[in-house]
Amino acid sequence: MSKKVLLMNGSARKKNTWGILQQLVQILKNHGIEGEILNLFDYRIEDCTGCESCVSHSGCSIEDDMPVLMQKIMEADGVILSSPVYMGSVTSKFKTFADRLSRWIHKPETAGKPVMFVSTTMATGLKETRQFFEAFATGFGARKGGFISRAGKAINTPVKDKELSRFLTLLGEDTASYRPAMGEIVMFAVGKAMASKSSGDDRRFWEEKEWFNKSYYYPCKMGPGKKLFSKLMFKVISNAMR
Ligand SMILES: Cc1cc2nc3c(=O)[nH]c(=O)nc-3n(C[C@H](O)[C@H](O)[C@H](O)COP(=O)(O)O)c2cc1C
Repeated sequence: MSKKVLLMNGSARKKNTWGILQQLVQILKNHGIEGEILNLFDYRIEDCTGCESCVSHSGCSIEDDMPVLMQKIMEADGVILSSPVYMGSVTSKFKTFADRLSRWIHKPETAGKPVMFVSTTMATGLKETRQFFEAFATGFGARKGGFISRAGKAINTPVKDKELSRFLTLLGEDTASYRPAMGEIVMFAVGKAMASKSSGDDRRFWEEKEWFNKSYYYPCKMGPGKKLFSKLMFKVISNAMR
């Protein structure tokens, strides 16, 4: 069965960012991979109200299209997240979508999924937008597959196959080949510390996954130094938490 990649467009327009996604679908097709573009603006995504029921329980108190989107992400072999730069960051639609995924910071059900990012801009904000995307994906334990961007006069520069090489490699590899970066190990330790302090659903989730004894979400390429670092970070972070 061929792999499937979900490409999420955070722009209301089907223009610059969407144009890149369309090229990516074609490149993926050339590699025998199915791509489906999904426009966030076609879905009802309400603001997070901060009720924290996704932390204390497993569900969300808001009824809208988020469960549909989350199910699609779960089922995809890889995800491409995209947004134009709006006021130096992602669009408000994308930010609302990200807020509503905060359950996966506490319960990273999609850990290990390959994720790539796309952004377009008139001139500024690509660095900040990339940082936003990467922090968001690190929180979910995703394997990061790169960033494609276009700006100003170069907005229509065609996407080259090699811009997807890291993402394609991750799609073809299993998680055992992955070498988590220090920042990713720190986020694992943060999640573990939060779950260890939780009296509710987060602890149940981490126990079920048997992650409390682990140095990372899944077996991967981590030497003894990184394993020790993960355990030390957990101790330091949990001591600093309430
Ligand atoms: C509300 C709004 C805010 C924007 N903010 C920025 C910005 O901070 N920096 C910038 O260089 N371009 C900014 N732009 C330009 C867009 O990032 C750029 O045109 C982008 O390619 C649009 O992508 P789209 O065609 O996929 O919607 C902004 C555009 C809009 C409508």
